Amino acid sequence: MSDRVIIFDTTLRDGEQSPGASMTREEKIRIAKQLEKLKVDVIEAGFAAASNGDFEAIKSIASVIKDSTVCSLARANDKDISRAGVALAPAERRRIHTFIATSPLHMEVKLRMTPDQVLEQAVKAVKFALQYTDDVEFSAEDGYRSELPFLARVCEAVIKAGARTINIPDTVGYAVPSLYGDYIRQLREMTPNSDKAVWSVHCHNDLGMAVANSLAGVSIGGARQIECTINGLGERAGNCSLEEVVMAIKTRRDFFDLDVGIDTQQIVPASRLVSNISGFVVQPNKAIVGANAFAHASGIHQDGVLKARQTYEIMTAEDVGWAANKIVLGKLSGRNAFKQRLEALGIELETEQAINDAFQRFKDLADRKSEIFDEDIHALVSGEGADAAKEQFHFVSLSQRSETGEKPSAKVVFASNGSEITSESEGNGPVDATVKAIEAKVSSGAELLLFSVNGITSGTTESQGEVTMRLQKGGRIVNGVGADPDIVVASAKAYLSALNKLASKNEKLNPQV
Ligand code: KIV
Ligand code: ZN
Repeated sequence: MSDRVIIFDTTLRDGEQSPGASMTREEKIRIAKQLEKLKVDVIEAGFAAASNGDFEAIKSIASVIKDSTVCSLARANDKDISRAGVALAPAERRRIHTFIATSPLHMEVKLRMTPDQVLEQAVKAVKFALQYTDDVEFSAEDGYRSELPFLARVCEAVIKAGARTINIPDTVGYAVPSLYGDYIRQLREMTPNSDKAVWSVHCHNDLGMAVANSLAGVSIGGARQIECTINGLGERAGNCSLEEVVMAIKTRRDFFDLDVGIDTQQIVPASRLVSNISGFVVQPNKAIVGANAFAHASGIHQDGVLKARQTYEIMTAEDVGWAANKIVLGKLSGRNAFKQRLEALGIELETEQAINDAFQRFKDLADRKSEIFDEDIHALVSGEGADAAKEQFHFVSLSQRSETGEKPSAKVVFASNGSEITSESEGNGPVDATVKAIEAKVSSGAELLLFSVNGITSGTTESQGEVTMRLQKGGRIVNGVGADPDIVVASAKAYLSALNKLASKNEKLNPQV
């Protein structure tokens, strides 16, 4: 058996299924390019049949990604599969990932199909997908709660039909490591042609065990593909976190005796990018990518680390890319240096005018902040580009007043479909006044579910504030993100960005509902 574990990243598909995490085509392309730099083996770019937006995003990613395999999810039916096949056509390496539920509960209640019908449909789907690519993955949704003998029959049949990868998800995050590992091992033993496929694990984190379960699936079960997401992004409690599972395999090579092809120094930049774009902030004590993950606060620890790092560090911050957080540009940097940095970060602005505008914003920022980091540049271009130009609302300017003992007030100027609107309001604080001023003209009636502020780069009050606003309206949840050294301006940008997402009609189908 190979000792190489395939890393299958599903940030852009399962990760994006988190309420509010939906991304534009341009944002998805930026993340895909970073995933390629990270050297993930497979990028699940989306679910082509979910919406036209997802279809176009997969197609664009398929055209630009050269080193990783690009994959689309498809339910086990001809329509979904042909949509995936067409979206993936430009890719150098493409995979269709088709799935159907196999647990008694899902078959009876959700699908209203008999086990034999499910088996027949799974086989048909795999054969149909082979028209578009020879790299077909089959997933048994709710696989871990399925009956082993039936699931083994399904696996045998789909492998015979041509599936190269068999994925057994713990869809509802119910598994326990030793049981899940054993389940995968038994399933492989009960599947007569199991050696003809790569076995894969896909664990959700409802009980906080997604990483442990995935590792057990590999070490006990013999799986050789792990499906995971950056920062563990995903519906409910999320998916197996890529950074944790990869660093566990690397750091405990003595135990796992396995390899992954990941360039670990790209982990922190990937984490920052996904957090910036999705608006899902990384908790400070999150393993590997949290701001405190390598911070030694206690005197005893600091003393030990200074004498010999290994006393309290099992891996280094540099190994996972914290050092990549370098000062890259400053006030004196020219347009060329800025353009080169954009290219190095995989940021493509489509026109010279867009580059000039971004350069102007960079100059304005450099006037206010002496050190410009990669994260600042990402924030600077976030929400820009061709997709952004089509958006309804754009921030123009803001002034606000707050003084102890006085009611704060704000005057906001923003554009709506090209016309400038000025609005003023008072509020409990400057952010409240700003949001009320915007609402006074827009009357969205949306409910604010979350308002959070974070420093983009740590350690200095010069840092840009990154604000996330999560809005809910008519059953839809969206996240807006805005960044600026002035957190009230960042809040106005975040609110307008969330309103743009609510205004876009990019409704998506959830593959599992
Ligand atoms: O969790 C799950 O079952 C899935 C499948 C569609 C692979 O995401
Ligand atoms: Zn999933």
